[in-house]
Amino acid sequence: MNKSLLLTEGDINISDERRKWDEKITDPQTLQILENDARYFLHQSMSTPCLDVLKTSKGSGMETLSGRYLLDFHGNNVHQLGHGNDYIISQIFEQMQQLSFSPRRYTNQPAVAFARKLAELMPGDLNRSLFAPGGTSVIGIALKLARVVTGKHKIVSHWDSFHGASLDAISAGGESVFKKYMGPMMPGVICIPPPTTYRGIFGETEDDQLNYADFLEYVIKKEGDVGAFLVETIRNTDVQIPTKAYWQRVREICRNHGVLLILDEIPIALGRTGKMFAFENFGIEPDILCLGKGLGGGIIPFAAMIARDSYNVAGDVSLGHYTHEKSPLGSVAALATINYIEKEDLLQKVFDDGIWMQTELNKLKERFPLIGDIRGLGLLWGIELVKDRATKEKATNEAEQIMYGCMHHGLSFKVSQGNVLQLSPALTISREDLHTAISVLSEVFEIHARQIN
Ligand SMILES: Cc1ncc(COP(=O)(O)O)c(C=O)c1O
Repeated sequence: MNKSLLLTEGDINISDERRKWDEKITDPQTLQILENDARYFLHQSMSTPCLDVLKTSKGSGMETLSGRYLLDFHGNNVHQLGHGNDYIISQIFEQMQQLSFSPRRYTNQPAVAFARKLAELMPGDLNRSLFAPGGTSVIGIALKLARVVTGKHKIVSHWDSFHGASLDAISAGGESVFKKYMGPMMPGVICIPPPTTYRGIFGETEDDQLNYADFLEYVIKKEGDVGAFLVETIRNTDVQIPTKAYWQRVREICRNHGVLLILDEIPIALGRTGKMFAFENFGIEPDILCLGKGLGGGIIPFAAMIARDSYNVAGDVSLGHYTHEKSPLGSVAALATINYIEKEDLLQKVFDDGIWMQTELNKLKERFPLIGDIRGLGLLWGIELVKDRATKEKATNEAEQIMYGCMHHGLSFKVSQGNVLQLSPALTISREDLHTAISVLSEVFEIHARQIN
């Protein structure tokens, strides 16, 4: 497979730079565990063989077995409230002592309280939820519900999108790395180009973004039978932020054509953009919203799908028959997560951090020609690396060199689309730790620039 098709979701563990990283690990116990990990787990491109062995984590950082401290600017997006948040732990612990599991057919107070809280937070008539143990599962539920509600089976989604790793989710997604060896896919999925502001095929200006919306409408009209547009409100991995005008137009198109707008905010909701939900940045509302990852406070695997009241029409079938459906622990963790964000006024903090990050990252861009573009908001940032700002040729090897260099200096993040450094720290991170991260980036870019000159 063409290497560029592998380099989409994240950095892979079969590159030259990865081999060089592995060769530098000397701690015997770490080597032993990595070897056993590679022996007993099935290998896959973005996990085993692994980078290092973790021992502890707290707040915005983690410590490896060999004592290396890393600021975690990846965290798989479960770390909105930081690692091991004491408030969340205490709430879960209390719940564990009362009711730790709720068999299907029974309900429990935390599950109902959380479903009610979601209904209060959502706009309009989005007040019906289903819970599941993971993001992929709620995407599957949303796709099934869209079929029931619209009677139409086709889905439009974006090339390069990721909505989970199961067969239905990879069918609905647009990343080749997940589809290799896996066909045939679920029929009826049409991928269209995502709106991008840096290397978009329908143009890059703010006005051009409407071309992408127009193409969505074109496809819906030509295809017929499209029941859902499944899309991330903001593409998390390479940080693509459409304009408000784009979103408002998409909202109108979906409404006009009876297509449900399913927003996947599994990695980016709960404050990362400075709003509780990313769609609030654009003045739109979804028909179905999918949440997950940090919803369980970074501790309990938990996800939720929220849909319109009028979609409560499938009582005779099972949409999400998951064992841990009404998890009291997940529900308590999710309620505590939202309470924490509210009581600590995290949204304002993230907004302020975002302004600061933008200034600091743009200073780096002024100093290093390797940086072609900086984009983001709140505590979600992408640094796109290019060999040449005029041609925008992707600097893929350089991106990995910078990433591994930063890890050596105590900053962990991932690379997306081969050349985008993705920065998403805990929302609770201190300004001091943000300073440290910027200093590490600056130093590593500096070292890199010296080496090539
Ligand atoms: C945008 C998006 N959707 C869905 C998922 C799937 O979530 P999970 O891994 O919890 O199943 C992910 C996970 O990375 C994601 O980033």
